[in-house]
Amino acid sequence: MTVTVKTVPTTPFEGQKPGTSGLRKKVKVFAEKNYTENFIQCILEAAGESVINGSLLVVGGDGRFFLKEAIDIIIKMSAANGVSRLMIGQNGILSTPAVSSLIRSNKANGGIICTASHNPGGPDNDFGIKFNCENGGPAPDAFTNKMFDISKTIKEYKIAEGINVDLNVIGTNKFDVNGKPFVVDVIDAVANYVELMKEIFDFGKLKEFVSGSKPLKMRIDGLNGVTGPYVREIFVNQLGASDSNVVHTIPLPDFGNLHPDPNLTYAKDLVDQLSAGDYDIGAAFDGDGDRNMILGHKAFFVTPNDSLAIIADFVDCIPYFKKNGVTGFARSMPTAAALDRVAKAKNLEVFETPTGWKYFGNLMDANRLCLCGEESFGTGSNHIREKDGIWAALAWLSIMEHTKKSIEEISKDFWKKYGRNYFTRYDYEECELAPCNQMMTDLENLITKPEFVGKEFSNGGKIYKVKLGDNFSYKDPIDGSVATNQGLRIIFEDGSRIVMRLSGTGSSGATVRMYIEAYEATNVLEAASEMLKPLINIALEISQMKKYTGRDAPTVIT
Ligand code: G6P
Ligand code: ZN
Repeated sequence: MTVTVKTVPTTPFEGQKPGTSGLRKKVKVFAEKNYTENFIQCILEAAGESVINGSLLVVGGDGRFFLKEAIDIIIKMSAANGVSRLMIGQNGILSTPAVSSLIRSNKANGGIICTASHNPGGPDNDFGIKFNCENGGPAPDAFTNKMFDISKTIKEYKIAEGINVDLNVIGTNKFDVNGKPFVVDVIDAVANYVELMKEIFDFGKLKEFVSGSKPLKMRIDGLNGVTGPYVREIFVNQLGASDSNVVHTIPLPDFGNLHPDPNLTYAKDLVDQLSAGDYDIGAAFDGDGDRNMILGHKAFFVTPNDSLAIIADFVDCIPYFKKNGVTGFARSMPTAAALDRVAKAKNLEVFETPTGWKYFGNLMDANRLCLCGEESFGTGSNHIREKDGIWAALAWLSIMEHTKKSIEEISKDFWKKYGRNYFTRYDYEECELAPCNQMMTDLENLITKPEFVGKEFSNGGKIYKVKLGDNFSYKDPIDGSVATNQGLRIIFEDGSRIVMRLSGTGSSGATVRMYIEAYEATNVLEAASEMLKPLINIALEISQMKKYTGRDAPTVIT
């Protein structure tokens, strides 16, 4: 079938600036005339001739409302802009880790992922679009800045309106666009990813552990996000778990009104179920499948910081690492430093990067980094270039199988060996932007004054002496690029820290994140909320949180 390309005049939209992970706005904004079209044109133009011409792009999303409309636009505009081939998950479904894997195993030139990750979905909620490069990872700052620049001057976009693809049907769709072939492959959404997991983990051992003579009491919660079909294939079909071990496994456009963010607040059903004591492991994943939360018996909570460090400590029980070796670890700056102690014990490099998975990519490509994570419930490795929720759950099953211990025992053994980094994060969501910016400016001025160093703060019988106050910046060791303004840090002499930054993933207003970390070498079995109280009070006082945000309490505590 021959189709023609149309050039449509347009005018720029304000604020098409990708944040920590792509562009996220309300569905209503993406649905405005030309809004999505403009943004897709910016992606394709920023990708440039060499990527577009004759290229293969992987396309998919987390099943949220507006997915089909967005993919339809992406297909028509990719064809019009000279892309040769698209690979799209059936019904438009692909988890973020699956896209990363497909890009890598098909040597694609990149991918477009339609997701707002863990943000709620539905007509009144969020949509999002991000571009991943040929290494399978999120586009770096240089690329997203280029997209933003184009968005400010865009005058037209190209579209081939005659192209229509039935995303329900797996198969190859061929078109002729102005004399050039254009192919759309609708593919099975899970097969490639499942194969990858089978290469990384010992599915034979895990099957015996999950469904052998003594079946594991496990509850895997897809939160009605994209992981449902992956969870069913891996845990039920491959590892032999029963249907009752997996819940919320049908991707829904509004996530069934769940907030698909795997933490103690939003994955409340999982927490309640685990609290009742009937399960030995619980895991939940976010809307697009890259985040994870791990819970033990009676909802014993493993912080993402500890989860990362414990997996690092046990890397050898995962066949992938045993086979390929491990060169180094990394964590984002606000992530607690438990990992650093494991790195030291194993005599490996550990990197501290800004928030955002994209900062791990270069280190992985240069083979300096094999395992990394963030406090924001992201854990992953160099098997792909995104964090990976299901991978993290399989890593924990491998550790449980290897140690024959409970999650609580594994965690406590870890603290006894390395000490404990008590950690909490307070989020103040949807605050007014201007006063929050002011708060950050004032706080930066305060903590970067030379006389701030050495200052003592006391609360609840604890005294903390300031060692350093700064605004974190990062120089990429591989390409030398510099990211500034990545969060305010107050580091105390005993290694405890207060970190404050504004979220880069919200879709409206400002979200303030306050991260509190206190290290204890021996006093490791206390309640985190009690241990952290003094430092939390100090942080609230130094930042004057209430004055600037007008809030007495955070919206979410993790
Ligand atoms: C996404 C990114 C992560 C990041 C997280 C929080 O999940 O992929 O890399 O840590 O958002 O970002 P934020 O800017 O909202 O703190
Ligand atoms: Zn996500």
